[in-house]
Amino acid sequence: MSTLRLACVVGARPNFMKMAPILRALEALEQFECVLIHTGQHYDRDLSDVFFEDLQMRRPDVHLEVGSGTHAQQTARVMERLEEVFLRLPEQGQPFDRVIVVGDVNSTMAAAITAAKLHIPVAHVEAGLRSFDRTMPEEINRIVTDAIADMLFVSEPAGVDNLLREGKPRDQIHLVGNVMIDTLFQLLPLAYDRDILPRLGLEAGQYGVVTIHRPSNVDHPEILGTLLEVLDDAARNMPFVFPIHPRTQKRIERFGLTDRLRPSNGRLSGIWSLPPLGYLDFLALTSQSRVIVTDSGGLQEEATALGIPCLTLRNTTERPITVDEGTSTLIGDDPGRLRVELDKVCSGTYKRGRCPELWDGHAAERIAQILMTS
Ligand code: UD1
Repeated sequence: MSTLRLACVVGARPNFMKMAPILRALEALEQFECVLIHTGQHYDRDLSDVFFEDLQMRRPDVHLEVGSGTHAQQTARVMERLEEVFLRLPEQGQPFDRVIVVGDVNSTMAAAITAAKLHIPVAHVEAGLRSFDRTMPEEINRIVTDAIADMLFVSEPAGVDNLLREGKPRDQIHLVGNVMIDTLFQLLPLAYDRDILPRLGLEAGQYGVVTIHRPSNVDHPEILGTLLEVLDDAARNMPFVFPIHPRTQKRIERFGLTDRLRPSNGRLSGIWSLPPLGYLDFLALTSQSRVIVTDSGGLQEEATALGIPCLTLRNTTERPITVDEGTSTLIGDDPGRLRVELDKVCSGTYKRGRCPELWDGHAAERIAQILMTS
């Protein structure tokens, strides 16, 4: 049986936990030779290196070091540098048989376009998700990537429906489950061993976790200011820990909102600001929290798998199963709704939710099997 040469491309924080189990499943099979390429979209240690360590993922074979920029700059830089790699590396061996991309960040779309133009087939993991809100940069990335990918690995049934509606052939679509949840179940025991709760003076079930980083929530002073105000009010009765994404930190400083946050100091209320956390420390915090308040896509899924209430600061979600079956509720930007749902959490009347089918820790193995027989 001949070896298949795969280029596995990652770029930003949420890509790493999705690619880690795929790489492991592929490399367990002799049929694949994988080249791991990091675009460098995320480059801070806190957003990149620490994840490779926590996820026990090998270092990238190639690093493109594209860094930050506008959407066009970042996308163009990935395309230019990746094209060179796709053209150069085959000289040292056989050409790439396929490129694997995950998620919906700029690096995902840029890598898919670059590969498709060189006639290298593209597999997209986490395909088919749609928020139907084209003001989200990720929605554009998802639509473009799926349009040019020929293998579509989907995490929830709505994704299959979306792809069929967009005219993708049935035989290109594979409902395999959720690779990010593979990582979560694999590393949960290690997360429970972390000492971050005692270090912060927190007790399991007695605090909330907040994350906010979407441009729609953090790029406008009034919106971000109101959000922090409402969260501060919600944090009267229990502390909320807030690991802050660099993008959000910069906006908080620029808008003069730093006085809304305080470092953790053992108080039993308020928003406690923290630097961005690695995978294990963050999972230790979320898995033992009472409630999660977030605008992240992935965290809605992780909260659902963990059975933790998740109040989602968005009007739409591309992951409807987290609302229909899981623990997430869309709060939009309505402070009143946030208060009502938080009260339900505190009084024990918040909905329960269940872990969706195929979110069982084996999605990456299913992907590897399908790639092997395709
Ligand atoms: C990106 C993804 C988003 C994902 C998020 C997870 C896109 C369009 N967005 O958003 O889908 O949910 O990652 O974190 O791909 N910065 C640093 N250090 C870094 C990287 C970024 O300080 O290592 C700062 C820079 O000021 C940069 C800003 O964060 O301009 C935004 O980074 P970028 O990668 O463009 O988007 P994210 O907001 O991180």
